[in-house]
Amino acid sequence: MSGARYTPIRVEAGQRIVVLDQTRLPHDEVYVSISTVDALCEAIGCLRVRGAPLLGLAGMAGIAIAAERDDASDKSLQAAGARIAGTRSTAVDLGAGVQRAMEAVVGSALTGAERRRRLWTLAAAAVDEQAAIDERIAEAGAPLLERAGAVLTHCNTGALATGGRGTALAVIAAAHRCGWIERCYATETRPLLQGARLTTWELAQLGIPHALLSDSAAAGLLASGKVSAVVVGADRIAANGDVANKVGTLGLALAAKEFGVPFYVAAPRSTFDLACMDGSRIPIEFRPVDEVGGFGEQRWAPGAMDAYNPAFDVTPARFITALLTDRGVLRPPFGPAIDTAFGPPAGR
Ligand code: MRU
Repeated sequence: MSGARYTPIRVEAGQRIVVLDQTRLPHDEVYVSISTVDALCEAIGCLRVRGAPLLGLAGMAGIAIAAERDDASDKSLQAAGARIAGTRSTAVDLGAGVQRAMEAVVGSALTGAERRRRLWTLAAAAVDEQAAIDERIAEAGAPLLERAGAVLTHCNTGALATGGRGTALAVIAAAHRCGWIERCYATETRPLLQGARLTTWELAQLGIPHALLSDSAAAGLLASGKVSAVVVGADRIAANGDVANKVGTLGLALAAKEFGVPFYVAAPRSTFDLACMDGSRIPIEFRPVDEVGGFGEQRWAPGAMDAYNPAFDVTPARFITALLTDRGVLRPPFGPAIDTAFGPPAGR
């Protein structure tokens, strides 16, 4: 349960999932039913469903959908899992969610009906658990924003991105409830405008005073001294604390370091990839070039052009002040702190 007025994902066991179509926000609140692997892959690919933890929930439910629609054999589930996990490469939660579902049934002696039941139960329970996980992140992180006044965030990290309460936005909301936040600055987040379309929508519903800025205004804002912390989410955190997050995060971290502004990254355990030693090994998703030259039907660049369109960038751990997790606040050096919080990766 998200705790929000809207429901980013709902599991209807034995049939389908219902998701809030994030491509239609903020103007239209439209829910879409997904009952095939094709439809799920389409929804993930075009960001109807997005945000790392929410992708994890969708990935897990996708295996239940595959078992329901196709057949529940190991071979069929493995093929569906590979397809779903391959739709977006950077957010580790997606593949991990698929993997968690597969491990619950693949190789077992369960019948098809038992497999389906187990997969739906797992998917529904994971959706229910997310709010509590996010709540722990918020509780751990909010004290770092004591009397912060104004903060800056990037992309969208609210309930829409997790299916629970959110990561960075949940931390900001908890600090706001304590009376410590007067204003949240939200970057518009080019090219798909998650900040402008989704974060401002969620901030309004949370009752948090906010201001939208173009991405290119962020360095100047940090230089101005008007912001006392940057709080963002993550799509994959390597074992040494390097963080992949929405493109533009690295620039914010560099500017924050230069101007002495603390830079916090909020994420659940599921976003840590302990098998990935550092950020250079994180796969970066590149998206269609036409996303840069326009938005929806509106084109502003000449028709035939090339574009550089990575969806994410990697912020080295040395630019990060603290990682705010559901297992507490982790401080540098992050390698040992991550090992202590989550256990060392196999083989180390
Ligand atoms: O491409 P998106 O919209 O899925 O990217 C989302 C982000 O980069 C978020 O900051 C990230 O998933 C962390 S929020 C829970």
